[in-house]
Amino acid sequence: MTLDVVPVDLGARSYEVRIGPGLIDAAGAQVRPFLRRRKVAVVTDETVAALHLQRLLDSFAAEGIEATALALPAGESTKGWPDFARTTEWLLEQKIERRDLVIAFGGGVIGDLAGFAAAVLRRGVRFVQIPTTLLAQVDSSVGGKTGINTAQGKNLVGAFHQPTLVLADIDVLASLPDRDFLAGYGEVVKYGLLGDAAFFEWLEAHAPRIAQDASLRQYAVRRSVEMKAGIVSRDETEEGERALLNLGHTFCHALEKATGYSERLLHGEGVAIGCALAFELSQRLGLCAQEAPSRVRAHLRAMGTKVDLKDIAGDLPDVDVLLAMMAQDKKVVDGQLRFILARGIGDAFVATDVPTEAVKALLAEALAARG
Ligand code: GLY
Repeated sequence: MTLDVVPVDLGARSYEVRIGPGLIDAAGAQVRPFLRRRKVAVVTDETVAALHLQRLLDSFAAEGIEATALALPAGESTKGWPDFARTTEWLLEQKIERRDLVIAFGGGVIGDLAGFAAAVLRRGVRFVQIPTTLLAQVDSSVGGKTGINTAQGKNLVGAFHQPTLVLADIDVLASLPDRDFLAGYGEVVKYGLLGDAAFFEWLEAHAPRIAQDASLRQYAVRRSVEMKAGIVSRDETEEGERALLNLGHTFCHALEKATGYSERLLHGEGVAIGCALAFELSQRLGLCAQEAPSRVRAHLRAMGTKVDLKDIAGDLPDVDVLLAMMAQDKKVVDGQLRFILARGIGDAFVATDVPTEAVKALLAEALAARG
């Protein structure tokens, strides 16, 4: 299997996403050309540290690179002010200077938090993303969005800070629990649905085997990263096209809030349910044919991921509360809900004039189907 290299073209801040097997063991050699002195600081979480940190540290040692590591508790609750303060102060204690590199080694929580710490440390130090989950490899490690959650909501404090390099090790995905892998798949399928019908067809044919087959996995990650890289290159700060990456996310954010950001619903599961709802809403508004939402749902069912509100265990609030939660989403512009809708599979667009009644009716039916 070869290494795939996807460039993210952003002028002087351009970088590569390298995708392939064995990249953790090769990280020292991959990172070394970017170092001005042989010193890095690794930010990770305790779960990833137990499974993979020693190999990463060995790869740095093999290149004569001095590496220290901070392992934070695993989980979304780490992505807040206390661990952010702890991380920035630890980086200062490690005497990380502007010419050094911070290594974000973990899933989306670690990438977002360590990236934000790098963005503000000494007014900005460079960082490398080594994402260890499918979700982080195809989405959060690419594109430079960094940040933390606050009491007011998710990702409300942060910065655009592009990494210097992204290393996506395909082998590491084999150690993910099935549920986490499938949750990440919600973000993979999103790319086909928003802009590449041929990729969606490929996923329909091959995705049921990607958890087992490394070469299929590598292609799925590469194609997802190519799509994200293209969009980010054209619209880095989300003035337009980048909003398409939020397909399914307005529904998802409300459902995550309604379930308390808990194990009841992982982010990628919410994205899958949100994509199914966005296609259903598009069909009801006469934007796409009935076949489209049916295909989306059939594929998600075949993959075994969550598809419907009835797949979420426990109580959910009523329609009005869910709508109010959507209205708090940071994608709201001038008080108007912005949805990503679709004219068909692979043809999404930003809609700002969605009738609230249509959203309400859709959610009411989906809630009623929970019995
Ligand atoms: N995850 C959406 C974005 O990076 O824009």
